[in-house]
Amino acid sequence: MAAHGRQEWQKGVVARGNHLTFRLPPYFASFLPLFIYLFWVFALALVIPPQRLNLNFRTELLCLLGYSPPLSALCSASAAQMSYGSSSRAPAFGNRTGRRPFEFGRTHVVKPKGRHQVTIVWLHGLGDNGASWSQLLETLPLPNIKWICPTAPIRPVAAFGGFPCTAWFDVGEFSEDGSDDVEGMDASAAHVANLLSTEPADIKLGVGGFSMGAATALYSATCCIYGKYGNGSQFPIHISAVIGLSGWLPCSRGLKTKVEVSPEATRRAAVLPVLLCHGRADDVVPYKHGEKSAEVLRSAGYRNLSFRSYNGLGHYTLPEEMDDVCKWLTARLGVASSRN
Ligand SMILES: *[C@@H]1O[C@H](CO)[C@@H](O)[C@H](O)[C@H]1NC(C)=O
Ligand SMILES: *[C@@H]1O[C@H](CO)[C@@H](O)[C@H](O)[C@H]1NC(C)=O
Ligand SMILES: *[C@@H]1O[C@H](CO)[C@@H](O)[C@H](O)[C@H]1NC(C)=O
Repeated sequence: MAAHGRQEWQKGVVARGNHLTFRLPPYFASFLPLFIYLFWVFALALVIPPQRLNLNFRTELLCLLGYSPPLSALCSASAAQMSYGSSSRAPAFGNRTGRRPFEFGRTHVVKPKGRHQVTIVWLHGLGDNGASWSQLLETLPLPNIKWICPTAPIRPVAAFGGFPCTAWFDVGEFSEDGSDDVEGMDASAAHVANLLSTEPADIKLGVGGFSMGAATALYSATCCIYGKYGNGSQFPIHISAVIGLSGWLPCSRGLKTKVEVSPEATRRAAVLPVLLCHGRADDVVPYKHGEKSAEVLRSAGYRNLSFRSYNGLGHYTLPEEMDDVCKWLTARLGVASSRN
């Protein structure tokens, strides 16, 4: 029985084998590297556990497979600093008179499943896009919240040695000590304000994000506190909730004095609900930067601030963290949760 089966199997292989050798196109060999490349992409995708919702996965994969120089630039501060001197920054910010604004990418909207009470703009991390986060936010048990997930413009990024990718502003180092591209941040904060400005008056507004998106959300929050952009123009909207996951606070120098000189800013900072979450094992935006950002905000008078840390969490999110986000939103904004 077994021998018979084996014979059949061998016959099949031989027959198929002959068939194949004669039919193989002559250019097959030139596609072989592509097949091997695709094999590794799929193999890697299978190896990564799906519960680790690593939303920078695509960027990292690109870096691993195709663009190792930007990855090394990311890891080495000296490479990132060197690129400031090179021409990589010039096309973006060199010519102030004839500067062309960057175009923002596609915006994805997650409609509320129940009565609409709150609208939150959610900003993705470096190299990501709005679509990937909208898929995750759609699964949250928050039926009264509408999520708006815009996509950042594609621009040269100093941390990648001037390599262009989706970014809310130009960045050299992922920390609050990095130099600040105020113009880029103002443009992104204005994009956030534009997306929220058409919401009905009785809807509460919020802004949140992951990594560089969190940095942009915190920057937008400070604009709301001061009532103006970094360039002095009036900031047009009122934000009622701010969430930052695995991020940092840009423009932290002078934050305290800027809040303290204005009684209106002091009052706004004291009541604005802010949630910051950071993984202790974050190797992209180190945990201490997240912790420091929370300290700076607290000492500047942000009294309605919660900081959560997660043991073993790297630069990605986990269901446990998203649960905390949901609980915090339901408590702070008075919206219902569909999971009890
Ligand atoms: C800046 O851009 C404008 C318009 O594109 C151009 O006329 C001008 O020569 C540029 N200036 C410099 C210094 O490159
Ligand atoms: C300040 O920045 C905002 C957002 O980019 C822009 O709309 C506004 O025109 C700028 N104001 C000045 C005076 O440049
Ligand atoms: C934080 O903000 C929420 C919502 O505005 C409010 O209900 C709560 O009392 C505030 N907490 C503190 C400590 O100010």
